[in-house]
Amino acid sequence: MARDWTARSWRDKPIQQVPTYPDPRRVTAVEDELAALPPLVFAGEARRLRASLAQVAKGKAFLLQGGDCAESFEEFSANTIRDTFRVILQMAVVMTYGAACPVVKVGRMAGQFAKPRSAPMEEIDGVSLPSYRGDMVNGMEFQAATRTPDPERLLRVYHQSAATLNLLRAFAQGGYADLFQMHRWTLDFVKGSPQAERYEDMANRITEALGFMEACGLNGESVSQLRETEFYTSHEALLLNYEEALTREDSTRPGEFYSTTAHMLWIGDRTRQLDGAHIEYMRGIRNPVGLKAGPSMTPDELLRLIEALDPNNDAGRLTVIARMGADAVEEHLPALVRATKREGRNVVWACDPMHGNTVKASSGFKTRSFDRILREVRGFFAVHQAEGTHAGGVHFEMTGRDVTECIGGAQAITEARLGDRYHTHCDPRLNAHQALELAFLISEGLKQERTLGKLAAPGLAAVS
Ligand code: PEP
Ligand code: CO
Repeated sequence: MARDWTARSWRDKPIQQVPTYPDPRRVTAVEDELAALPPLVFAGEARRLRASLAQVAKGKAFLLQGGDCAESFEEFSANTIRDTFRVILQMAVVMTYGAACPVVKVGRMAGQFAKPRSAPMEEIDGVSLPSYRGDMVNGMEFQAATRTPDPERLLRVYHQSAATLNLLRAFAQGGYADLFQMHRWTLDFVKGSPQAERYEDMANRITEALGFMEACGLNGESVSQLRETEFYTSHEALLLNYEEALTREDSTRPGEFYSTTAHMLWIGDRTRQLDGAHIEYMRGIRNPVGLKAGPSMTPDELLRLIEALDPNNDAGRLTVIARMGADAVEEHLPALVRATKREGRNVVWACDPMHGNTVKASSGFKTRSFDRILREVRGFFAVHQAEGTHAGGVHFEMTGRDVTECIGGAQAITEARLGDRYHTHCDPRLNAHQALELAFLISEGLKQERTLGKLAAPGLAAVS
């Protein structure tokens, strides 16, 4: 166990981004209730993800992490979950096939409900109310009652996450992810588009290959990887009382503690203070963890954070998620990558091309341009190519719904059309068209890496 750590030792450290609840006794009662509930994920599953991420760190696989900026109570439905799952599967197949590289799939799902905010209060027409911090804390509507933080929401998040996870497990292992079904994954509104055609073309080639394999005696019955897939969940560990209540000691390995709210947790760019509560909590759990790194991160700071979170230099434990912005990535990322390389640090490098590229459109909508997102991904690949390191993964805010939240892409969504279907509860997400388009681009980047000999040959368990 990490030295001097307990699941509640974070409570003695300075903390950022905590809501102020009107009735602290009710918060304690909810924490007690959560502590008595069953775990959502198991330690063994988190360890399996860690092992897969170790392959990414070694340059033998790629991480695809994606989902909502913020899940919500309102958007919760089986279809929404299924559609995001479908797009992630499609993206993963595109990358696996194009780059002959296994793809580790992690959803920003089943727990991604709390948001850090730049200001604690929001003012409209002279009225000042607490900022919306995600459905886990308060409601979006600008009314005093809705904006007041309510601890009961923690319980609702737990139950919605349990239901979401249950469905995701069924999709991943119950036949939906069967590669023989890959033609059916295309969403109706994407059909007929250039990306869908490109995908169909690739699916036809894979189906042909599957036919050949079947003739050789390899099919879904004999090779489970063709029939099912591994799908993991993740969220930002923002509300530490929720994480603490669901922290459990692994019954098979005494002394090892896991947050059982998700397989992987990450630390946001606003809560990564070295002596702060979030680093304190995360250093003691054994889950794979992510660390967001924005343009203010210095190489020295990064090395100290890595030392705190991963003192044993275990490949797969830590993923550094760079979110620099299209204009800053080639300026800031090289020094960070060089520092980890020089110190022999086994981290996974992932690119979040969303959070450094958010702008406000003249209509007032928060948006991101697809071009800038592409540019940041390209810049990320270019940096790793120049440094001789592995561009290990990507981290997207995306949805399987036909939304108009990010401008550009093949559908050429304009600023004027943002209002058509703008549904996000926080930041603008890629829609299924834009997400697929990006997957093809990344698959090209990975192919190039392989040609240059930087990406190791894939293992056999790499099919889906
Ligand atoms: C997020 O991932 O939703 C987020 C808030 O990111 P960051 O901490 O990088 O700003
Ligand atoms: Co976001």
